[in-house]
Amino acid sequence: MGESLNVGIVGCGAISGQYLRTIERLPQVRLVAVADLDRERAREAARPYPGVEVMDVAALMADARVQVVLNLTVPAAHAGIALLAVEAGKDVYCEKPLAATGADARRVLAAARAAGVRVGCAPDTVLGTGIQTARAAIDDGLIGRPVAATATMMTPGHERWHPDPGFYYAPGGGPLLDMGPYYLSSLVTMLGPVGTVVGAAARTRATRVIGSGPRQGEEVPVTVDTHVTGVLVHESGVLSTLVMSFDGVATRAPHIEVHGERGSLVVPDPNRFDGPVLLSRLGEEGARELPVSAGHADAGRGVGLIDFLSAPEPRAGGTLAYHVLDVMESLLAAAHAGRAVDVESTCERPAPVALGDPAARA
Ligand SMILES: NC(=O)c1ccc[n+]([C@@H]2O[C@H](COP(=O)([O-])OP(=O)(O)OC[C@H]3O[C@@H](n4cnc5c(N)ncnc54)[C@H](O)[C@@H]3O)[C@@H](O)[C@H]2O)c1
Repeated sequence: MGESLNVGIVGCGAISGQYLRTIERLPQVRLVAVADLDRERAREAARPYPGVEVMDVAALMADARVQVVLNLTVPAAHAGIALLAVEAGKDVYCEKPLAATGADARRVLAAARAAGVRVGCAPDTVLGTGIQTARAAIDDGLIGRPVAATATMMTPGHERWHPDPGFYYAPGGGPLLDMGPYYLSSLVTMLGPVGTVVGAAARTRATRVIGSGPRQGEEVPVTVDTHVTGVLVHESGVLSTLVMSFDGVATRAPHIEVHGERGSLVVPDPNRFDGPVLLSRLGEEGARELPVSAGHADAGRGVGLIDFLSAPEPRAGGTLAYHVLDVMESLLAAAHAGRAVDVESTCERPAPVALGDPAARA
């Protein structure tokens, strides 16, 4: 294998461990440095990895070895860190959402275009075998012409397990901006971009109580909608119905279903890389599990980084992430205005991922 990719991580909180484990397994990707406002967290993250340097953010941005800044900060900090990376002439890969607002995301993408650097963004779970196998089934015509989809995410809220959950209830959070990227990136990957949305939303409680960690029992303010529903009209005419909620206890609805004229698919959890894809065909009894046919096998968060080795824009890329953010903001605007809203942005469906081991890809 030829080239390798040097990465510096900014933000060493709850999710960083999953990225560290992925990077460890990808011989093409090398972790050079880590930074966090809380230096002790950065030290803790780097401890198992000899040679990885602990720095402050400015030093990481100035380090010539770092090619891609992996931005794992909270949503409110995503744009600021991304802009610093772009100004330093580095590619940047952000956790989702791309930014807390569409306006901030546009600033990041415009700056990156002007600087000639690339922007990637989570979720890269859509590059795993679950969503990619479902996409291949649709592209291969197994359900006929797609006509509709449903996407359902229902949980009582992340404050029950996350020790520092304030960001989930602040702008950039809420069930839609937090979990929506998984579902919408999957729907756009399978069914193409969204043209118009209608919606309704509710905010059921003014505060949430932290359920674990040193701040257990403390209240955090809620300034975002916590139950969001809507219909997304894809440019193709397909209608996707969405429910994203931090207000329900549980659901038995599939995460995603896609319906076509000749068949229906149950699509696995888009917050995971794998899972069974079930096909029911018109005229056939029951559902059958499809063999895994596409996607990064045994992948983990961070696998999307490998596209920086070869692609002009990573598949888990800024244009897709911006469209997803634009759809989410348009949905909230539609809910608040009580009318349909046209989505201004669009995007290409990202290229499919052939089945294979990400560690073996150039
Ligand atoms: N926790 C999860 O299970 C999970 C899963 C998927 C995605 N994510 C996403 O990952 C991101 C981070 O989530 P988390 O749960 O790890 O949050 P966290 O609060 O546990 O960690 C965030 C870290 O970023 C640091 N930070 C914040 N602003 C910074 C700045 N300006 N400069 C340097 N460091 C800064 C904080 O000090 C903290 O250590 C969010 O966008 C979240 O949506 C989280």
